Amino acid sequence: GELPGVNELGEAIRILSDSENPQSSQDDLTDFEYLRRKAYDLAHQRFGNRIYIRGLIEFTNICKNDCYYCGIRKSNIHVDRYRLTKDQILACADEGYVLGFRTFVLQGGEDGGFSDEAIADIVRYIKERYPDCAVTLSFGEHPYETYRLWRMAGADRYLLRHETADRVHYERLHPDSMSYDNRVRCLYDLKSLGYQVGSGFMVGSPYQTPVNLAEDLHFLAKLQPQMIGIGPYVPHKETPFAKMKQGTVRQTLVMISLLRLMFPKALIPSTTSLGTIAADGRERGFMHGANVVMPNLSPVSVRKKYELYDNKICTGEESAQCRGCLDRRAEAFGFQVVVDRGDY
Ligand code: 5AD
Ligand code: FES
Repeated sequence: GELPGVNELGEAIRILSDSENPQSSQDDLTDFEYLRRKAYDLAHQRFGNRIYIRGLIEFTNICKNDCYYCGIRKSNIHVDRYRLTKDQILACADEGYVLGFRTFVLQGGEDGGFSDEAIADIVRYIKERYPDCAVTLSFGEHPYETYRLWRMAGADRYLLRHETADRVHYERLHPDSMSYDNRVRCLYDLKSLGYQVGSGFMVGSPYQTPVNLAEDLHFLAKLQPQMIGIGPYVPHKETPFAKMKQGTVRQTLVMISLLRLMFPKALIPSTTSLGTIAADGRERGFMHGANVVMPNLSPVSVRKKYELYDNKICTGEESAQCRGCLDRRAEAFGFQVVVDRGDY
């Protein structure tokens, strides 16, 4: 049906997220657990116990932007900047293919060192070598014509979180050089070009209110993305938000469940940031309705350098180790990681 207004919805999110206040309206279940079961059952109906994997290749940590929350913002002089070569990127895909990945996500900072054509070339190469795989780009804001070039080169999907759907909040998280309007423009351009689009937001980002989260849900209801990525805000020590407090596991799980109920068919990852703030975070995400996980395929030598937030997990692991680890973790909770493109 229709979504409640943002004030009403914000109040519900606030109550559900408050672990001090586990009031129950469904017999002896807390509302939090009731919501979880609804979301879990819906995901199970549609996807069974299947979890889709995407291989994340973090191909550059150079970025022209200066988002206040992000560890690889351009003002952070402590980052050892890197750019993978085309051959290094292809080697990651080769390794990933053998491990059963059928989606490759090329993610990077907004690095002007790659021309539009260089990116198109990499996409073409991967699609040619692995025609049974999906290529997802996650490379920030670009003009329509650039997105079109990459789509023509064979890119299937694009990830670009809106970060927050509240304009004032957006401006508190980003410097003046970035604009909410351009972010939204990008997302609609991507949709109109036929990409499967992923958007999303951080949970518990600085200055965020429950009403902001309700606004995020309203925004996504309009956009109708095929994929929705959310994770807790986690501070990074070399950013202006270093002292801000991190998002909670509970609120993140509440939002995952609400997203599942609103978008029964959506591909919703249980994110690395959730796995970072709790050892069983990703598994709990699956139990609350998430159905995707995005392990790292980047070369181990660069993993620590792509630190968007402190203490990111899996930065010391080989790709094969993460793959095996995830299999076991999923299985322990009754899920199965599958070899599949996992299209919408
Ligand atoms: N904590 C959690 N998530 C973050 N991201 C960036 N910085 C942080 C942080 N400090 C998220 C943003 C971005 C995605 C790639 O990572 O939402 O879109
Ligand atoms: Fe990377 Fe477990 S998923 S070590």
